[in-house]
Amino acid sequence: MQYLAVLGRQPKLSLAELESLFSDVTPLGLTLATFTSTDISSISRLGGTIKLAQEISEKPEKYLLDLNFDGKIVFGISDYSKGANARKTQSLALKIKRVLKTNGKSVRVLENKDAVLSSATVFHNQLGEKPGHIEFIKYGNRWFVLTGVQNINAYRDRDQGRPARDAKVGMLPPKLAQILINLCGPLEAGSRILDPFCGTGVVLQEASLMGYSVYGTDASERMIEYSDKNLAWLNKKSDSLVEVGDATNYEWQPPIDAVASETYLGPPMSEPPVEIKLKTVEQECRGIIVGFLKNLAKQIKKDTPVVIAVPAWLRPDGSYYRLRLLDEFEKLGYNVVKYKNLSQRDLLYHRDGQVVAREIIVLRKK
Ligand SMILES: C[S@@+](CC[C@H](N)C(=O)[O-])C[C@H]1O[C@@H](n2cnc3c(N)ncnc32)[C@H](O)[C@@H]1O
Repeated sequence: MQYLAVLGRQPKLSLAELESLFSDVTPLGLTLATFTSTDISSISRLGGTIKLAQEISEKPEKYLLDLNFDGKIVFGISDYSKGANARKTQSLALKIKRVLKTNGKSVRVLENKDAVLSSATVFHNQLGEKPGHIEFIKYGNRWFVLTGVQNINAYRDRDQGRPARDAKVGMLPPKLAQILINLCGPLEAGSRILDPFCGTGVVLQEASLMGYSVYGTDASERMIEYSDKNLAWLNKKSDSLVEVGDATNYEWQPPIDAVASETYLGPPMSEPPVEIKLKTVEQECRGIIVGFLKNLAKQIKKDTPVVIAVPAWLRPDGSYYRLRLLDEFEKLGYNVVKYKNLSQRDLLYHRDGQVVAREIIVLRKK
């Protein structure tokens, strides 16, 4: 089955996520990608995909005429093709509505303020969710029908609703945590995922909601209490283990099927650091991350995926200063995973106004 993904705000990272899970991933322009899958359970597991749709062989008019649904049809069109505009998209939708009306169907068309409907509009109108509520997505002469849109409320509730939060350790967005987990590649349900810098437990929360067993360790006792509290809030304590431990020398309890972690990122910063400070912080982070990878290499099996987010710092000129760890991984006993549609430089997660960005590194134990 051919699927279409509308990629999130960090489209390269979203592409990497899709490549890790599905075959034939092909970018269409900068914001879309198609891929093949026989079974895709739900968009709620894909942190980097905003809308998910399935290709249809007929045009929307025929699709709607053949639809076995007696109630009022609510539909909208998003045209992601080059040169698309709201006026053309809206007039196409109204033309389809007229044909359907003459065929005795009751129809409402969602108004296009832009050539594409925003995910918020799609979500609030329950397109792809409620029977007869449909979004058609056009790209060139290909048509897709929406199967799901990112549930913004669910992400917000998981992020802001959890009882133990700490701005100082940074706020890993749940979507990014899902991406880190998915970059491990397909894992069997119930696999055990380790986060050795678990902090308040965002990776543990997301992994447990995705059906994995979770194991978190952190050097700080307070953080372990926070992770414990947050997992209890999700009712996921039974399939989890959290312990205090320094990642550079801790002996983890097997099994470890995959590792997904936002490592130590250094102190929070509100403006780009001066070179001298950058050097000190870099050394500290590098020491902890290399020490951790060395310690981990002795404890995991060949091919175990290890996905880490490491810091990169915004410089006054707008570029990012990276840890340049790539040469180290080989020596430490890991291969760096390569992608078809992007390079390592693309695996950077940053938000406007943030000084500490995250570079994502995907490794496999040699
Ligand atoms: C950026 S935070 C991770 C935040 C986490 N993703 C969350 O959901 O809150 C990094 C964490 O690394 C921990 N840490 C720092 N040095 C460590 C070490 N040597 N071993 C284990 N944990 C360490 C800190 O206590 C902190 O909780």
